[in-house]
Amino acid sequence: MRFVGVDGARVSVIGLGCWQFGSSDWGYGDDYARRDAGAIVERALDLGVNLVDTAEIYAYGQSERIVGEAIRDRRDDVFLATKLFPLVPLAPVVEQRARASARRLGVDAIDLYQVHWPNPVVPNGPTMDGMQRVIERGLVRHAGVSNFSRARWEDAERRLGGPVISNQVQYSLVQRKPERELLPYAQRAGRLVIAYSPLAQGLLSGHYDGANPPRGWVRRGNVLFLRENIARAGELLDALRQVAKVHDATPAQVALAWVIRHPNVVAIPGASSVAQLESNVAAADLELSDDDDARLNSAADRFKPRKGPSTYPALARSMIGR
Ligand SMILES: NC(=O)c1ccc[n+]([C@@H]2O[C@H](COP(=O)([O-])OP(=O)(O)OC[C@H]3O[C@@H](n4cnc5c(N)ncnc54)[C@H](OP(=O)(O)O)[C@@H]3O)[C@@H](O)[C@H]2O)c1
Repeated sequence: MRFVGVDGARVSVIGLGCWQFGSSDWGYGDDYARRDAGAIVERALDLGVNLVDTAEIYAYGQSERIVGEAIRDRRDDVFLATKLFPLVPLAPVVEQRARASARRLGVDAIDLYQVHWPNPVVPNGPTMDGMQRVIERGLVRHAGVSNFSRARWEDAERRLGGPVISNQVQYSLVQRKPERELLPYAQRAGRLVIAYSPLAQGLLSGHYDGANPPRGWVRRGNVLFLRENIARAGELLDALRQVAKVHDATPAQVALAWVIRHPNVVAIPGASSVAQLESNVAAADLELSDDDDARLNSAADRFKPRKGPSTYPALARSMIGR
């Protein structure tokens, strides 16, 4: 496994996303939550992954509990990341929420405490006061944010009076906006971009087509999985398949290798099975050439999914399962 070091933190380039754990939103069922989720975490740690990402909001704390149970005897193997849902972003509330997350996770300290979304009404100040407080009290080791613009990320650092080491954002071959400002800032300032949905929620595995859509309302509500958009992704999926063939890899592995090829970027794919986790970890060793990269970039540039209000009727039909 390769690692990226920022401000004293050492983070595996492939991490594990845990939104799926205990969540009915993905449609994986009870056995997944009871049995597979814990096994996925344990196998990840066995294979050298240390970044495990969850959030207080995932399955209303259940994801944190599952992770806590799975890492109970292996605390030192994990760089544990969770997130605050900043509904009431006041310093005492931040501390109370961090303590509740730590309790569910069964740990004394959270390695990376991330603000899940920028609060649209309240500026960064009060949240960062709370972040400062939990860091001073040893409850949190590093501050992070998620879904922040570059300007708001930098503002958070000023308010904290110290590094906000990471920004967790959607980044994949179908969402390259972070390349404009966030990746350059991370590289310049010695920060980390944590790429979520690096497989576009499974679209980039090439498993799905119009006749075979994924289950669960998360993806039924994702515009990328509309029949028309899966068809429009055909050229990109073909490029992934071609590059995968050259490297004796899978399209999903190539999609992950493309993400973590960028300096100061790590990826946190979710997994519906131990086998998927193993395959994702192996992507850390897949070295794409500049030609591979150029081919994927140009196919990605040509992918233009239909978005916006004209897709709402089709999305509504998809969500009610028709
Ligand atoms: N900060 C935020 O706002 C935010 C938002 C979203 C996600 N996240 C975090 O990012 C993590 C990952 O994002 P995500 O779950 O949205 O999307 P993702 O990682 O792009 O997709 C995960 C899904 O892709 C499929 N998959 C995974 N590995 C595969 C493989 N090797 N081969 C084929 N298919 C594979 C699985 O679904 P199937 O097997 O069912 O197809 C899996 O559930 C989450 O768990 C969460 O921790 C954060």
